[in-house]
Amino acid sequence: MDTRKPYPVNNYEPYRPSGHSYARRFDELPVHAPTGFTCAQTEKYRGQWRDFFGARGDAKLHLEIGCYHGESLLEMARQNSNEFFIGVEWKFKEAYKASEKAVRSKMRNLVFLRANIARLPWMFAPGELDRVWILFPDPWPKFTHHKWRVLHADFFRSVGLSLNEGKEVMIKTDHCDYAAFIADELKEADCFESFPETDADQIWSTFPATPFEKMFFKKSESSFVFSLRRNANRISPPAPLKGIFATAVHTVVD
Ligand SMILES: C[S@@+](CC[C@H](N)C(=O)[O-])C[C@H]1O[C@@H](n2cnc3c(N)ncnc32)[C@H](O)[C@@H]1O
Repeated sequence: MDTRKPYPVNNYEPYRPSGHSYARRFDELPVHAPTGFTCAQTEKYRGQWRDFFGARGDAKLHLEIGCYHGESLLEMARQNSNEFFIGVEWKFKEAYKASEKAVRSKMRNLVFLRANIARLPWMFAPGELDRVWILFPDPWPKFTHHKWRVLHADFFRSVGLSLNEGKEVMIKTDHCDYAAFIADELKEADCFESFPETDADQIWSTFPATPFEKMFFKKSESSFVFSLRRNANRISPPAPLKGIFATAVHTVVD
């Protein structure tokens, strides 16, 4: 029996104060060069992440969704010091550990957010991101648990709004049924198109193997890959998000 607690997939509610022991530990991270934020603080820099990092010109801003303890993103940031990286993870402990590692690394081009990715539109302004990575999302294989799958059409529309035309979303799963579900939801969202395999291979070669991937390749041969870029279609924001896209500036009260 799957006894894990569901993640709040369609929960767009603002954060309430958390009593989690790791929530308090985020306050102990250095304030002069923050490498981790939690809950409402993750929405403080919406539309200003480039300024936060001091990014110049067209330096790429990457987002990894479900980054776990951040190993792959740390490696990416190490290898691409002129680009900028944000990892989002729902689990407090893993997100905090990732932030701690980022402090030790002394790198200034990455940050970890302990957040529910359903709040993506409150974390990132339209067109703010350049590339989104989603590696091995939880497949919730039982039919009755499909409602907890993160990658549904409304979510893809939110991701689409955070990217300008031509910017990429890279998705990999080992789960055949989830891959079919993702394909259907992408079709419904209608805001991405595939791009040439050679370009996709080049982009995929930049992402280090994830912890899950290292385990999974020992067990099985195949994975399902989506290499997509934002098309030119106009996206109508999902119903719960209409208000947020009607206002130019969104402020969050901690
Ligand atoms: C199967 S793990 C894969 C971790 C990592 N990407 C890898 O490949 O090793 C899925 C991750 O997504 C995170 N996750 C699931 N739902 C989430 C949500 N709503 N917001 C943020 N992270 C979430 C989980 O906590 C977990 O760490």
